Amino acid sequence: MKLLCVASECAPFVKTGGLADVVGALPKALATLGVASRVMLPAYPALADIVATGQEVWRQRALHGGPVRLVACQAEGIDLLLLDAPHLYDRPGTIYLGTDGRDWPDNGVRFAALSYVAAEVAMGALDGWRPDVVHAHDWQAGLVPAYLHQRDAPTPPCVMTVHNIAFQGLFDPALMTTLGVSSTLYTPDGIEYFGHIGFLKAGLVYADKITTVSPSYARELMQPEFGMGLEGLLRARSSDLVGILNGIDLDAWNPETDPALEAGYTVKRLKSKAINRAALIKRFGLAPDQRGPLFCVISRLTTQKGLDLLLDALPALVARGAQLAVLGSGDKDLEAGFVAAAHRYPGAIGVIIGYDEPLSHLMQGGSDAIVIPSRFEPCGLTQLYGLRYGTVPVVARTGGLADTVIDANEAARSAKCATGVQFAPVTASALEQAIHRACDIYAQPTEWAGLVRRGMRHGVGWDVSAQAYGDIYAAVCDARVTQD
Ligand code: ADP
Ligand code: GLC
Repeated sequence: MKLLCVASECAPFVKTGGLADVVGALPKALATLGVASRVMLPAYPALADIVATGQEVWRQRALHGGPVRLVACQAEGIDLLLLDAPHLYDRPGTIYLGTDGRDWPDNGVRFAALSYVAAEVAMGALDGWRPDVVHAHDWQAGLVPAYLHQRDAPTPPCVMTVHNIAFQGLFDPALMTTLGVSSTLYTPDGIEYFGHIGFLKAGLVYADKITTVSPSYARELMQPEFGMGLEGLLRARSSDLVGILNGIDLDAWNPETDPALEAGYTVKRLKSKAINRAALIKRFGLAPDQRGPLFCVISRLTTQKGLDLLLDALPALVARGAQLAVLGSGDKDLEAGFVAAAHRYPGAIGVIIGYDEPLSHLMQGGSDAIVIPSRFEPCGLTQLYGLRYGTVPVVARTGGLADTVIDANEAARSAKCATGVQFAPVTASALEQAIHRACDIYAQPTEWAGLVRRGMRHGVGWDVSAQAYGDIYAAVCDARVTQD
């Protein structure tokens, strides 16, 4: 089966969050099932060296003010189709934001172009290659199903994955003509969302199937608390909505071979984890002789991630003799809050503001526990990396966090199946209790070692979930055959 995967990020080339990890890892897992993927991405400046190794396979003289072409390349075992359009993507700043920290004002056009060219490829624009299925990820690829819906000729089926419904891609309806989207689609049953064009909504309306990244989030999305105005649409499409848990790339995230670690280790050779712990303590300027666990946070600092609750729980954490290392960036108030906490509790709390991929690996390798107090979490990957690295997850009971961590309550502890600590409701006091529980278990070394070992043995790879995607691709193809 031939798959065209369309997304705005893909690890290890360009990443702002978990979307990239998924888009980078899934094609390799699908390949073992006979699904040959090509991943289509914008050719951002970070990809210039890869573009130079590729071959032009398609071009168009002008799209939104400049020439565009597709360059086919192979890198890190992934088949890439890079959309080279310097007027849209060759910019400083990040892939979504300018150097002033604001969204590029033409993000609607930039990502509509990605979707438009993907739809051209889906319709056979490339010589000798046409996908059987298109898989569109998040709002940046949300217009792909809409562009396909507008075509008169038969189109391949499209699967739309929601990684985070908080990001909907809302733009001025005045753009409809520029984007080449038929005005007949601008209705409440179509792509209109409260007076805007909704790119994600377009995907949810016109895709053949909708997936999201955990079974719990699939249920949550149909509730007003989580659906962000799209819950009604998702309820109406509930028979086409499936939650498939993310996996992780077991090669990129392997504590035995990880080059970012000071010392490799396995579940049978856990002693070396202490060498990474010592390195981390040093890196964050923490005191080397504390009695409690070393917690970490590796995260975007946003309201979603609930880290304001952790700020409130810090006095309790410190009082237990525990320590905290934070790596993250985002909301300026949260950044300032953690920096102030590091000044207030020197030796106990260390903070690095920024984005640092190798350091994130060392933190997974060296910490005792990872705290993820998210208000909502579609899947979450850092708890999965935590499990793999024997770093016990302490998580809010929501979305994918609820689906991947087994809480160390009395029953689970006596049945010896617990892998972490969950808390609910998502409040500072419940988080504080969870931190106390984690510290209590940490004080019982055999119990703690049980959590660590079970976590490390817990399956977090892609095998089961890749098969689930494979089944969905097969189902949408079969449905088209039946329709025709
Ligand atoms: P989200 O995609 O909502 O940000 P996920 O848990 O799915 O959350 O994925 C976050 C990814 O980004 C993980 O791979 C995590 O290690 C990484 N990450 C987040 N913040 C940082 C940071 N400051 N430095 C390095 N990696 C980070
Ligand atoms: C989003 C979600 C996160 C998920 C990731 C990958 O960024 O916030 O929970 O793990 O996508 O699917």
